[in-house]
Amino acid sequence: MTTALELLICLSRGEINRAASAFIITAESPADVPAREALLDRAMGPNRRRKSSEKLRRGRLPSVGLAFVARDDDGAVIGTVRLWDVRAGEGDVSALLLGPLAVDPAWKDHGIGSALMHYAIERARVLGHGAILLVGDAPYYTRFGFSADKTGGLAMPGPYERHRFLALELLDGALDGAQGVLKPSGRRQRAHPLARTA
Ligand SMILES: CC(C)(COP(=O)(O)OP(=O)(O)OC[C@H]1O[C@@H](n2cnc3c(N)ncnc32)[C@H](O)[C@@H]1OP(=O)(O)O)[C@@H](O)C(=O)NCCC(=O)NCCS
Repeated sequence: MTTALELLICLSRGEINRAASAFIITAESPADVPAREALLDRAMGPNRRRKSSEKLRRGRLPSVGLAFVARDDDGAVIGTVRLWDVRAGEGDVSALLLGPLAVDPAWKDHGIGSALMHYAIERARVLGHGAILLVGDAPYYTRFGFSADKTGGLAMPGPYERHRFLALELLDGALDGAQGVLKPSGRRQRAHPLARTA
């Protein structure tokens, strides 16, 4: 794709201290992994690894080309989102699982989460994926087109709240007939910890 799509520069209006804040979205690199993990700990707390989504991510790499970070003016990682390849049950329905999405608490409400979501969705669409699934707050994710309408036949491989299990079809009908418990289907991670990125 073009450079313009690879690097999305976002400007958002600051509310308190920042008259205007600039950030950039790029592909995540191996060097970003420590900062991304520290950000996730700050934003989501220590229980983040107990989520059922984690069962679909553990030991896997993100889907090719679908791991992104937001950076501030100094290049520091202030947001993260990744998407993972999953399969529904034993059937042939494939999808992406989105998450975790997180923004540095110091940068909340600057539009970074929304920019990451729009960028990730667009990249997934361009790469030809049919649907994105996630477990999250519907009041946040409905603004990006997610709903629970298409997840009725699907299940996460662990405890979760059904009303938070949401989907967005990128191709009409991509989730038609999708049934069963989600399984990971992405590339396996190598043993070295620095291999935990796309
Ligand atoms: C949720 C999160 C990613 C949003 O990122 P962000 O950059 O602050 O969000 P944006 O600036 O794009 O959007 C802000 C808007 O989303 C709303 N919002 C933020 N979190 C929300 C939530 N959990 N439920 C509903 N609305 C939410 C804000 O109230 C604000 O609304 P407004 O536009 O009407 O003022 C960020 O707060 C975060 O990292 N939270 C902790 C990690 C987490 O919970 N991630 C999963 C989300 S389910």
